[in-house]
Amino acid sequence: MYCKFVWLALCLYLSSSAHGSNSSRNCLDAYLQDSALKALVRHRPQTGALYKAVLPRNLSGMEVSVVRLRSKTLWKLGANFSNIHIPPRTISVPHVRRMAIVYQNLGNWSSQYYRVPGYSLITSVVGFLVYDASNVRARGIRNISLSLMGKPISVYFANLTLHHDMISAAKCVAFRPNGAIYFSDMISPNVCNATDQGHFSIVVGLERKHKRWYLWVVGIVLGCGGLVLMGYFAVVLIRHLQTKEIQAMEKHADDGEIFCNRWIGNSKLPSATVTRTQPDLEN
Ligand SMILES: *[C@@H]1O[C@H](CO)[C@@H](O)[C@H](O)[C@H]1NC(C)=O
Ligand SMILES: *[C@@H]1O[C@H](CO)[C@@H](O)[C@H](O)[C@H]1NC(C)=O
Ligand SMILES: *[C@@H]1O[C@H](CO)[C@@H](O)[C@H](O)[C@H]1NC(C)=O
Ligand SMILES: *[C@@H]1O[C@H](CO)[C@@H](O)[C@H](O)[C@H]1NC(C)=O
Ligand SMILES: *[C@@H]1O[C@H](CO)[C@@H](O)[C@H](O)[C@H]1NC(C)=O
Ligand SMILES: *[C@@H]1O[C@H](CO)[C@@H](O)[C@H](O)[C@H]1NC(C)=O
Ligand SMILES: *[C@@H]1O[C@H](CO)[C@@H](O)[C@H](O)[C@H]1NC(C)=O
Repeated sequence: MYCKFVWLALCLYLSSSAHGSNSSRNCLDAYLQDSALKALVRHRPQTGALYKAVLPRNLSGMEVSVVRLRSKTLWKLGANFSNIHIPPRTISVPHVRRMAIVYQNLGNWSSQYYRVPGYSLITSVVGFLVYDASNVRARGIRNISLSLMGKPISVYFANLTLHHDMISAAKCVAFRPNGAIYFSDMISPNVCNATDQGHFSIVVGLERKHKRWYLWVVGIVLGCGGLVLMGYFAVVLIRHLQTKEIQAMEKHADDGEIFCNRWIGNSKLPSATVTRTQPDLEN
């Protein structure tokens, strides 16, 4: 038990110190495989039933489950668990009687362990690894390979809602246990083909985001420039109008002076009235 904690602490340390390194992934896979097989042992497993592994609190956010299958069953029916469909006509290499398939959903830990330079993950990393489970109580359980004779494996990303313009940019990515990374197109929104066990996710290029960011900056700069220019023209226009208005007012003022003078002239009317009433007096 103490040994397991040391192991887990080592995995967590690797994940935080060496982001997305092969060693931290392998360490995590080994730890999760051990937890998953413990779940099988605890349950006296029925073949073909999916069991959830119990993970310590410092790995909360991850989901791990395990199923034990006969090789014959996999060949006849395939395996359809945890959003990963392994088709019929699949065999294990080397041949074993029973196998254990460990399914992982790394949830919010995904980017802690899996990175693709130049891309960002837009779904959790999910995956499955296959082990020889002829004897689950055996120490040092073997990893085995799968060989597909028929259709490819399908991985469904049920929670992903892609924006229209992102569908063309999104790519499936497969992380092999040996550390190699493969890209492929989505076969339909949210579904990826896979040809082997490993970990899977959907990514979009960061280039696109940079471009968008760049466009925003250009837009903002142009917008600000436009505003400054508009402001400048507004000031020029206002100045022009003001000059015109002042000129007009000056003209009005001149006219007013003339008017005023006339009015002042009119104020001398009483004498005129007197002169006008004079004929009345004559009558
Ligand atoms: C993880 O949790 C266990 C108890 O479940 C604890 O003993 C261990 O120190 C924790 N490790 C880290 C790295 O936090
Ligand atoms: C796999 O299982 C899901 C439900 O868990 C179901 O909707 C889907 O049709 C199944 N796929 C195949 C090929 O059986
Ligand atoms: C993931 O979420 C859980 C709570 O749901 C939290 O305890 C854990 O620290 C988170 N992990 C990371 C890597 O953020
Ligand atoms: C088991 O895993 C190791 C390490 O990833 C790898 O070198 C080896 O080829 C695998 N064995 C099989 C049978 O896939
Ligand atoms: C995915 O698998 C299907 C079924 O075999 C195949 O027809 C299709 O070409 C594959 N798509 C890609 C992108 O590999
Ligand atoms: C989808 O979301 C549900 C609820 O948030 C979660 O339990 C489940 O693990 C998610 N599935 C995947 C494949 O991430
Ligand atoms: C992981 O392994 C792959 C292939 O073996 C290699 O190309 C890559 O550089 C490795 N990454 C790290 C971080 O060691």
